[in-house]
Amino acid sequence: MPITAIVGTQWGDEGKGRITDLLAADADISARFNGGDNAGHTVTVGQAIFRLHLIPSGLLHPAIVGVIGAGVVVNPRRLIEEIDQLAAQGLDVSPARLKLSAAAHLILPTHIALDRAGSGGLGTTQRGIGPAYAEKAARSGVRAGEMADLEAFAERVHAAVYSGGQVLRQLYGQEPPNPQAVAAEYYGYAQRLAPYVTDTSLYVYDALRAGRRVLAEGAQGVLLDLDHGTYPFVTSSTTVAGGVASGLGVGPQWIERVVGVCKAFQTRVGAGPMPTELTGPEGDRLRGTGEQPWDEFGTTTGRPRRCGWLDGVALRYAVRVNGLTELALTKLDVLSGLGRLRLAVAYEYRGERLENFPTTAAVLAECRPIYEDLPGWSEDISRARRRADLPAAARRYIDRVSEIAGLPVTIISVGPERQQTIVETSKAC
Ligand code: GDP
Ligand code: IMO
Ligand code: MG
Repeated sequence: MPITAIVGTQWGDEGKGRITDLLAADADISARFNGGDNAGHTVTVGQAIFRLHLIPSGLLHPAIVGVIGAGVVVNPRRLIEEIDQLAAQGLDVSPARLKLSAAAHLILPTHIALDRAGSGGLGTTQRGIGPAYAEKAARSGVRAGEMADLEAFAERVHAAVYSGGQVLRQLYGQEPPNPQAVAAEYYGYAQRLAPYVTDTSLYVYDALRAGRRVLAEGAQGVLLDLDHGTYPFVTSSTTVAGGVASGLGVGPQWIERVVGVCKAFQTRVGAGPMPTELTGPEGDRLRGTGEQPWDEFGTTTGRPRRCGWLDGVALRYAVRVNGLTELALTKLDVLSGLGRLRLAVAYEYRGERLENFPTTAAVLAECRPIYEDLPGWSEDISRARRRADLPAAARRYIDRVSEIAGLPVTIISVGPERQQTIVETSKAC
């Protein structure tokens, strides 16, 4: 049985975690293929709210095995904290249920210090993500598989922290972390995490061949992709569906469905252009005040998210770059009570109409959205469980999003809880 990929169609925080949790009810493996603890995926199950950063969201289902693939960068301290946190919330997070790729790179304190010192105006999550991937590409990173030999691992960590510290001192004049102390700290983490380390490429391959169903949960979204996002205002990993194969170490032919998770409006955290951003009261209304757990404040950093109308140009781009087969439209309930809704259907750039998402952030920064207005609705839709339960204006909005994307909307969510969804069979699969 094949892979279902779940990817973000915007700048992250589309609700990938909750859609993964929903689809995990019918899956056997839930895998993360990119990013690190810059991700913050919130899943609400009844009264319990789970905030996941590294552990795949499907793990909340007891029969699922979680996989952290080779494409992920792992802060071992944060992974242990998350394992302990979930265990305290009653979940089994033993090595039988969670597999960490031997090829996943580890985040070191020097990466975090370099991220804080050097990521300038990008507004990163300061989790050391960029420097860890940079060290991976430079072929000097430390990988999870090295934790099997504790003494050799501690020496490698010592050497890597020493050299990273030199850069920190020379470039930024900062006092680096003590290599000896970090090596001792990481020795302890390795003792704890080594039992989780597996050849996850083989594990997933064997599972696929045995007919098991795999969910590949993306972190971030297409507009933050290192190659295809709004560079340089991006993250440092492959966030698009193409990253599933390399990030998990399996062939692309296993991917059958590619579900694009699309929030009913647009958000962005950190710097970079965002054509449909609303800086006034309408943006405040979409963001919420922070009283509700789903209000637009970052799961990882708590920063207020920039909010705006749904960007159909970016959505069509997400369809193309990911090869989406269907859409999951989230947070539709947040639009209730807005008199008029707007959807960007094209951009205006220096007097010309652009239909396609531009290739540079500089051009995007000059793009003005061309909007189409749709009527809003006032009803509370959080109890809708079938499309027919929705007001006509809400159905019209969904249809228009579907038309713009050229794809069926197969999942609609109307609240953060597991059952607050309208699920329809995908015509594409
Ligand atoms: P992710 O990073 O893509 O997994 O998304 P986040 O978890 O960072 O952000 C999505 C937020 O919206 C979380 O707080 C979810 O609980 C919440 N959420 C998801 N779907 C819905 C929905 O349909 N309605 C409402 N009100 N909240 C939702
Ligand atoms: P999830 O998986 C939203 C943003 C940061 C910053 C840029 C680079 O929850 O959707 P990084 O720390 O990755 O080097 O920061 O990317 N960013 C996210 N924004 N959701 C995320 O993850 C993000 N992960 C990174 O705000 O602009
Ligand atoms: Mg998030």
